[in-house]
Amino acid sequence: MSQEVRGVISRSKGAPVEVTTIVVPDPGPGEAIVRIQSCGVCHTDLHYREGGINDEYPFLLGHEAAGIVEQVGEGVTDVAPGDFVVLNWRAVCGVCRACRRGRPWYCFNTHNAKQRMTLTDGTELSPALGIGAFAEKTLVHAGQCTKVDPAARPAAVGLLGCGVMAGLGAAMNTGNVTRGDSVAVIGCGGVGDAAVAGAALAGATTIVAVDTDSRKLDWARKFGATHTVNASETDPVEAIRAATGGFGADVVIDAVGRPETWKQAFYARDLAGTVVLVGVPTPQMQIELPLLDVFGRGGALKSSWYGDCLPSRDFPMLTELYLQGRLDLDAFVTEEIALDQVENAFDRMHHGDVLRSVVVF
Ligand SMILES: NC(=O)c1ccc[n+]([C@@H]2O[C@H](COP(=O)([O-])OP(=O)(O)OC[C@H]3O[C@@H](n4cnc5c(N)ncnc54)[C@H](O)[C@@H]3O)[C@@H](O)[C@H]2O)c1
Ligand SMILES: [Zn+2]
Ligand SMILES: [Zn+2]
Repeated sequence: MSQEVRGVISRSKGAPVEVTTIVVPDPGPGEAIVRIQSCGVCHTDLHYREGGINDEYPFLLGHEAAGIVEQVGEGVTDVAPGDFVVLNWRAVCGVCRACRRGRPWYCFNTHNAKQRMTLTDGTELSPALGIGAFAEKTLVHAGQCTKVDPAARPAAVGLLGCGVMAGLGAAMNTGNVTRGDSVAVIGCGGVGDAAVAGAALAGATTIVAVDTDSRKLDWARKFGATHTVNASETDPVEAIRAATGGFGADVVIDAVGRPETWKQAFYARDLAGTVVLVGVPTPQMQIELPLLDVFGRGGALKSSWYGDCLPSRDFPMLTELYLQGRLDLDAFVTEEIALDQVENAFDRMHHGDVLRSVVVF
């Protein structure tokens, strides 16, 4: 027996999103229905609406979510009705070539629900990142549900489901930041500020935050930045070198994802340092570099998919740090909004007014 709930869909390219009735089927084998308590508004949702991801409209948007498991399908043993979970968009398969080699955070065959949610006329919906959580309930693969301490505020820990995890993990997992490191973060939105927070948690002693918007730099200081650079006024490469004894940072994280910011990251890094690309470029973007600089500067040029996280390992640990007051996830929640305000939240995001607007049910 299916059920009808309210959800936010994007019907066609560029058109404003709308709240409508969606049909959620009973969970099949390996699937779960989650009653959503909170879901953050992420840039990727806007990318979907604008046709930047693919053309499979209509989309059911939303993917940075926390909620309560309501129903599970056959064979589900890791979660049960009543569990408080954060949803993830990389449910590890356990058997692909990456998983078998003990690197499940790279899993090349992640799981989503097999059944589709639909509109009332039967039109199949494409859930954003296989989640679709701007909805009172959503259908996911049970592996997309990670149990965390129910004492945590849903609007805060739900953000671990995407951007905040990507940023924290870019520093802690991909960049391998450790105590005493110098780190620079280019672009201090939700993802970049989480990278700043991750660098601080990992023990970095110098953390340089770079943005073109001075409001973002004020926020970055709250997350642990020791230096700030306004890239619209100052050359960020020079400024990062100046903050690191003239050498450059051990790890530079590009949380914008444009050729110019990646090049800044490349040259603002110390010899044998690491560049981490966590911002997502568009298909048109190209980069050209002297190959001798790539060789001569050494080190590692890495990309960070979802912060190289392992939800089952990282979500409960980060929730614990949050509950202990050592990771301020509340500071990412600029505002709590209702389901019918997602379009509005896109505007505020576009103007840089918020780190995260979070839909609360
Ligand atoms: N790798 C992943 O798994 C993953 C996950 C989630 C998001 N992302 C990506 O991370 C990126 C950042 O996401 P967000 O939610 O923080 O976005 P955001 O728009 O909130 O933040 C981007 C920040 O970059 C700043 N900026 C723009 N151009 C700049 C420049 N030239 N120099 C310095 N700063 C500049 C903006 O002022 C803004 O503060 C996006 O590309 C997003 O798609 C990646
Ligand atoms: Zn796998
Ligand atoms: Zn996201």
